[in-house]
Amino acid sequence: MTDVRWKLRCTTTGREYDGMDARFYSDAGSTLDVVHDLDHVRATVDLGTFDRRLGSKQCVDRSGVWRFRELILPVEESMIVTKPEGATNLYESRWLAGQVGLDALSLKHEGENPTGSFKDRGMTAGVTMAKIRGATRVACASTGNTSASMAAYAAQAGMRAFVFIPEGKIAYGKLAQALAYGAKTIQIAGDFDRALDIVQQVCERENIYLLNSVNPFRVEGQKAIAFELLQDLDWQVPDWIVMPGGNLGNSSAIGKGLMEMLELGWIDRLPRIAVVQAHGANPFFRAFTSGQPLVPVQNAETIATAIRIGNPVSWQKSLRGVEASHGLVTEVTDDEIMDAKALVDAAGIGAEPASCATVAGVRKLVADGTIRSDSHVCGVLTGHLLKDPDAVVHYHRGELEGITSRRANAPVPCEATLDAVRRHLD
Ligand code: F0G
Repeated sequence: MTDVRWKLRCTTTGREYDGMDARFYSDAGSTLDVVHDLDHVRATVDLGTFDRRLGSKQCVDRSGVWRFRELILPVEESMIVTKPEGATNLYESRWLAGQVGLDALSLKHEGENPTGSFKDRGMTAGVTMAKIRGATRVACASTGNTSASMAAYAAQAGMRAFVFIPEGKIAYGKLAQALAYGAKTIQIAGDFDRALDIVQQVCERENIYLLNSVNPFRVEGQKAIAFELLQDLDWQVPDWIVMPGGNLGNSSAIGKGLMEMLELGWIDRLPRIAVVQAHGANPFFRAFTSGQPLVPVQNAETIATAIRIGNPVSWQKSLRGVEASHGLVTEVTDDEIMDAKALVDAAGIGAEPASCATVAGVRKLVADGTIRSDSHVCGVLTGHLLKDPDAVVHYHRGELEGITSRRANAPVPCEATLDAVRRHLD
């Protein structure tokens, strides 16, 4: 292995630890940041380096994570476990922009990652670190996407995977992936927060490598959404970047990546970060609006099961980026989420419910005047439409309690004759 150029730093006291220290929390009990040697990064690469790599046929250059490797995890390339991930599309839809009251809206579709969610970006970094550490067993608690991603990367790296999921509250597309990729899937009789609590204890006792986003290397890979989005925009900074918030690893990562780019002088200002929570799982929204520390929400509930989380571990990390960028945290109802989803789907882009909290949030912030209609807004769609087919079918059949299916497109029963079919064609 090459030199360990990064350090681990406590997010509250600032105390530093060796980059290979086997810990996810500081002695003060806080989460850790990976801190890079930015002077070395500045001296080694610039934005032109990343643009040149776009034309390469090497996996590490094609990956929308490892293309930025000097700022992710500078390790021996032979150790990298990649599919490769990222290189997702940035969609523009005038029609959808108009529906939410904007002149233009760009959507980075992270559902186009290899396992269908943004989690692959963090997972490639996390599993690479597991491999460097010689881990043979990895584990995570998950509302579904993290487990699907971890199961796939662990299988690729020849590691045994254990996933802990909340019983009955995981979308089928995600459960199917965990099973298919061979992860031992443990359905905890409790919610995500309970599963996360248990998996941390199990990993500690059994010496299994934990791959939830308290693992700071997951956050490093996840940062690449910000890098790639900026690269898609030819390094022009948008006014807003909007994303859903659950356990808050993703917003922490995007904030960290942007702040590093600013410190490196690669951008001259930060876009404002807006985090959108579901009303029934909104502890970060409550903390942000009250200015108080986060109080966990008991029995979090939302149709967007991916973000059905009451006690997000990374809220302080996420708050740093929100505050530094003069951003905000908002909330939307399940009805607003599903309405926005129907629009995203009808635009031909498509995404799972939690992703569409992004668009519901944009719509709300434009309507209340927080986002101006001529602003340059980029939203992150976090997961693929097929992750949660049940939500789609029930929506279109008008079967979701408390949700008005305004754009219902139910299948029509029809006799098997030409005349009967023709009656349906108008
Ligand atoms: N969108 C989707 C589709 C997700 O799967 C998640 C989180 C989020 C948004 C929220 O991201 O937690 O970083 O704030 N899913 C995790 C999981 C919790 O286990 O797959 P976050």
